[in-house]
Amino acid sequence: MIILGIETSCDETGVAVYDTARPGAEGLRAQALYSQVALHAEYGGVVPELASRDHVRKLLPLVRQTLAEAGLAPSDLDGVAYTAGPGLVGALLVGAGAARALAWALDVPAIGVHHMEGHLLAPLLEAPDLEPPFVALLVSGGHSQLVMVEGIGRYRLLGETLDDAAGEAFDKTAKLMGLPYPGGPQLAALAEHGTPGRFKFSRPMTDRPGLDFSFSGLKTQVLLAWRDSDQSDQTKADIARGFEDAVVDTLAIKCERALDATGCDTLVVAGGVGANKRLRAKLQAMAEKRGGRVAFPRPALCTDNGAMIAFAGALRLEAGQHDDASVRVAPRWDM
Ligand code: KG4
Ligand code: ZN
Repeated sequence: MIILGIETSCDETGVAVYDTARPGAEGLRAQALYSQVALHAEYGGVVPELASRDHVRKLLPLVRQTLAEAGLAPSDLDGVAYTAGPGLVGALLVGAGAARALAWALDVPAIGVHHMEGHLLAPLLEAPDLEPPFVALLVSGGHSQLVMVEGIGRYRLLGETLDDAAGEAFDKTAKLMGLPYPGGPQLAALAEHGTPGRFKFSRPMTDRPGLDFSFSGLKTQVLLAWRDSDQSDQTKADIARGFEDAVVDTLAIKCERALDATGCDTLVVAGGVGANKRLRAKLQAMAEKRGGRVAFPRPALCTDNGAMIAFAGALRLEAGQHDDASVRVAPRWDM
């Protein structure tokens, strides 16, 4: 089956073609990504109406470009997968409307994919031997969750954030120290030059049992430290390092706890924060110590992209699932 995947849940227009006849990442016949970062940067965050309009402008040219790169005609497609939620409703509707119309015109099935399921299954693209059961850490701008993956489509929530998502905490912390949008990757880059241990922030909710997270208090700790500091470039980097270490340690402690609680030895990490180098190194070391395994997609597959939607849609269509002809999106949606 050859499946077109469309991602428009937030500020990236992602398109990809996945071919189930080829194993793992080799199935990605072509993909394209257009980031709206520059558009939103001057507002310090994503402006939903501008995001929708930019998806309208970019989506069909990207679909044409991706099909051309794959050497395919629209009539070669066997299905169209799109992100149906969660996300910005206007942005989601652009992808859903285009995907449904295309599927209708080509008389092929369409399937609405849960954005986080896309993230969750992305690591399987590069590690086709990886099979459930495993524990997944999903850390993006909108979610921080630990999920027990019992099978494709069989997910059990183990824990989640009670307030800010990990990526949101990175972004808000970066913003309060004056870093430009999108702050997460910038804060991580700054932390590379930071002195470890000069600023020590708490590891929230690790001193009590359970697998939930809370990151909003860290932001306040950073705000106070930043306000009382000399605000030099080195101090900014040192605070960034202290913050990053606190988030990374907290995530690692909870991942280890989730592996212990479930008896699983495999951890899969997905979502934008999964691109964080220090998090990757820490979880790798933890897995090695336990004699277990940790799988991450390459950074470009951690952040939003069309490939993960094409892949998740292909797995679901192969399993015989698809939607009816209505255009439905869900800005909020449990996986
Ligand atoms: O999965 P994603 O691309 O979009 C959502 O579905 O939210 O995740 C974006 C989030 C942003 O909050 C961004 O700051 C964060 O992932 N992020 C990072 C890094 N790269 C992206 N956070 C920390 N370190 C990074 N290297
Ligand atoms: Zn995402």
